[in-house]
Amino acid sequence: MSWTPSSWRNFPIKQQPTYEDKALLEKVESELSSYPPLIFAGEARRLKEKLAAAGRGEAFLLQGGDCAESFSDFNAKNIKNLFKLMLQMNMVLMYSTGKPVVKVGRIAGQFAKPRSSDFEEIDGVKLPSYRGDIINGIEFNEVARVPNPKNMLRAYNQSASTLNLLRAFSRGGLADLNKVHQWNLEFIKGNPLGKKYDELSDKIDHSMKFMAACGLTSDMMPQLHQTTLYTSHEALLLNYEEALTRKDSDTGEYYDCSAHMLWIGDRTRDLTEAHIEYFRGIQNPVGCKVGPSMGEDELIELIDALNPDNEEGRLNLIVRMGASKIAEAFPPLLKKVRDAGKNVVWTIDPMHGNVEKSSTGFKTRNFYNILSEVEQFFAIHKEMGTVAAGIHLEMTGNDVTECTGSMSSPIDDEGLASRYHTQCDPRLNASQALELSFTLSDAITEA
Ligand code: PEP
Ligand code: CO
Repeated sequence: MSWTPSSWRNFPIKQQPTYEDKALLEKVESELSSYPPLIFAGEARRLKEKLAAAGRGEAFLLQGGDCAESFSDFNAKNIKNLFKLMLQMNMVLMYSTGKPVVKVGRIAGQFAKPRSSDFEEIDGVKLPSYRGDIINGIEFNEVARVPNPKNMLRAYNQSASTLNLLRAFSRGGLADLNKVHQWNLEFIKGNPLGKKYDELSDKIDHSMKFMAACGLTSDMMPQLHQTTLYTSHEALLLNYEEALTRKDSDTGEYYDCSAHMLWIGDRTRDLTEAHIEYFRGIQNPVGCKVGPSMGEDELIELIDALNPDNEEGRLNLIVRMGASKIAEAFPPLLKKVRDAGKNVVWTIDPMHGNVEKSSTGFKTRNFYNILSEVEQFFAIHKEMGTVAAGIHLEMTGNDVTECTGSMSSPIDDEGLASRYHTQCDPRLNASQALELSFTLSDAITEA
């Protein structure tokens, strides 16, 4: 039972690279262990409290960002656009639900990817699969695909500067509620959705003016001019996570200081394997994906392993069944967990169970399947008397063409080729994500 940051090494593990240069790997790990943590344990505890509120239905969790961050798309514009999109979605959801929105980005560390196959074959050439920039390169050649430990250092540095900018945006004025109009992204402004957002901004402006007339201005109330965006990623590459695990001097407990929140993917959640072992010892709030193959007893065992004290806000279960499977697969699991009295923050990832191939050969997802899975998730909770605490999305603040459908950005199979930029899975573009928020906020208000 004894746990250390490295005890996961005694367990079987899936989805890992094979590093050829072991000496270099050890050098990188020891260098990373000496670097400053990216987050402070107190922040992770604060997030846990907020997630506990979401689990009780007093707040709403909005988690989102790229499927995979990349070294090549690393720039201020991409970070700023995602930040603005989160603020817009926050505003839409907060205004309609009257609840605070807990914002968690898939950002500043979301680099490692599980793959369905260890190899990729193109025109008879077979190479190791791309596993994310923290591990190897996406280019289809032998050199790029060799796992390089040094990529971990670059991922750490990129995460540090990304987080630095996010903290600056959060505290430096961009999140000021007097600026809601400015969060509207350029390419949305002209369409009906942009107009809908502008109408909402006008209402907020009026409220701000009313409050200012009462003597309450944003410069005297930090809540009105600052925000907090927490960071999260799939803690897949445990060499990296171990190196950033630190003992908190206040409590003597261990935290994974690479992000505020970490989650376990659907492919690596085996109860007897390394990821569960690593996660049980860190005190951050943690997530685990719940796909259609999850068994009822297995889920209870998983909850007990990750949250033995039944602490509120500790465990986020991220359901990702697919629009055609959720109605059958999810209710028995939810009932079992409800009846067992387990404290769980239930959210829905409507992305990973809805992947399809377009007639033009692109890996894509349809907006209406995404919407349908979310709506079913909310309806099932309503039926069961439990709390649907939030959503988990792959999305970008940019105007990409990766998912089909939606009213505001009606991309068809042919249109996908125009701006298909993702490093891995197809993301909702900013209009699709905003449209989803508007549609959902109506559903949430009803529920
Ligand atoms: C992901 O969130 O990018 C992911 C790979 O999800 P899952 O583990 O649910 O397939
Ligand atoms: Co993905």
